[in-house]
Amino acid sequence: MSESTLPRHVAIIMDGNGRWAKQRLLPRAAGHKAGVEAVRQVIKACVEKKIEILTLFAFSSENWRRPVQEVNYLMDLFVSALEHEAKKLHEQNIKLSFIGDRSRFTEKLRHYMLDAERLTADNTGLIVVIAVNYGGQWDICEAMRQLAVEIEEGRLTSQQLSPQHIEDRLTTAHLPPPDLFIRTSGEQRISNFLLWQLAYSELYFTNVFWPDFGAEELEKALAFYTNRERRFGYTSDQLKV
Ligand code: IPE
Ligand code: IPE
Ligand code: MG
Repeated sequence: MSESTLPRHVAIIMDGNGRWAKQRLLPRAAGHKAGVEAVRQVIKACVEKKIEILTLFAFSSENWRRPVQEVNYLMDLFVSALEHEAKKLHEQNIKLSFIGDRSRFTEKLRHYMLDAERLTADNTGLIVVIAVNYGGQWDICEAMRQLAVEIEEGRLTSQQLSPQHIEDRLTTAHLPPPDLFIRTSGEQRISNFLLWQLAYSELYFTNVFWPDFGAEELEKALAFYTNRERRFGYTSDQLKV
């Protein structure tokens, strides 16, 4: 597969940890733990493939609705993953960043997130964006809030407002939009992930549960992507000239 036909930016909804565990008569927590290993494998595969950006949906703004024990387990898992992995990612020249509302996290988790971002800020390899307490509607709403302030303060008029103004204020403003979107576990929905940014992404769904997703499964998704014709509103003939 030539590099030019590979996506620059891959965004994944890592779904199916709970069902993976249930299938094995294990507690849901075991599925989340196994999911961390899948994250490691996929990051490694993306580095090898020279993908530029990998965005991972780790916790949605709706996932707080889960039983408190599960939420607590996930928060502890984030802390320990950051504690153990940040340095290793840094050694691989990976740049780590987080999108989502951090205000609901513990001081400790916020500290680890900021530390990891600072440590890897100048790295030039794969960019890994982790979406935690993220919601696509929240992201757009925050952008609109900023714009409202700019209009209130007279720095912008409502007449000037364009899609670019919104895009520039999203949490992903510094990144190109995802070329390839992947969701595991057979669900075919966006679940409030990158609503704006997925406007022209190729959508790939697989029945594989997240803990079973690795280099081989990523390869299948990349092959699917390579076979798509991205038209962005043009006709197929227009793209051939
Ligand atoms: C994805 O797996 C992980 C998170 C949402 C944190 P799930 O926990 O949603 O697994 P299923 O969908 O219940 O199988
Ligand atoms: C989406 O998965 C969120 C993450 C993977 C972090 P969910 O399992 O929460 O989505 P729904 O509830 O099935 O739509
Ligand atoms: Mg799920």
